[in-house]
Amino acid sequence: MRILILNGPNLNLLGTREKTIYGSENFDQYFEELKLIFPDFTLEYFQSNIEGEIINKIHEVRMSLDGIVLNAAAYTHTSVAIRDAISAVDLPIIEVHISNVHKREAFRHASIISASCVGVIAGFGLDSYRLGIEALTKLNKSK
Ligand code: DQA
Repeated sequence: MRILILNGPNLNLLGTREKTIYGSENFDQYFEELKLIFPDFTLEYFQSNIEGEIINKIHEVRMSLDGIVLNAAAYTHTSVAIRDAISAVDLPIIEVHISNVHKREAFRHASIISASCVGVIAGFGLDSYRLGIEALTKLNKSK
């Protein structure tokens, strides 16, 4: 399978950002571990702090990949444009969050994008991404 891990704003600072919430591992290290866990998959990674770049990436890969594991970060709670991009493409997209957003501030409880995604995984630390890939694998098998 060909899967894109797509990270939104401030996730480039994983490893140093609010470590008690997001842990101390940076994403580049974790991405290497993911590639070892799924040696037969083509895994791509893209991170942007810019809403339009995230949308462009969703458009760009819509014909060439099998799915996206998306952590839209703060845009989860604000972006109608990313939700519309998810709805516009015929590609399964799993919403993931490192933290359990439902245990946190009220403004993090609402996701604008969830209804356009296949499902949501939140609260398992970086392992949320692995679980997202597993979910895409199961979907692909049941096709
Ligand atoms: C996050 C949760 C969001 O509320 C927050 O804005 C993030 C990260 C998570 O992975 O837990 O930047 O998506």
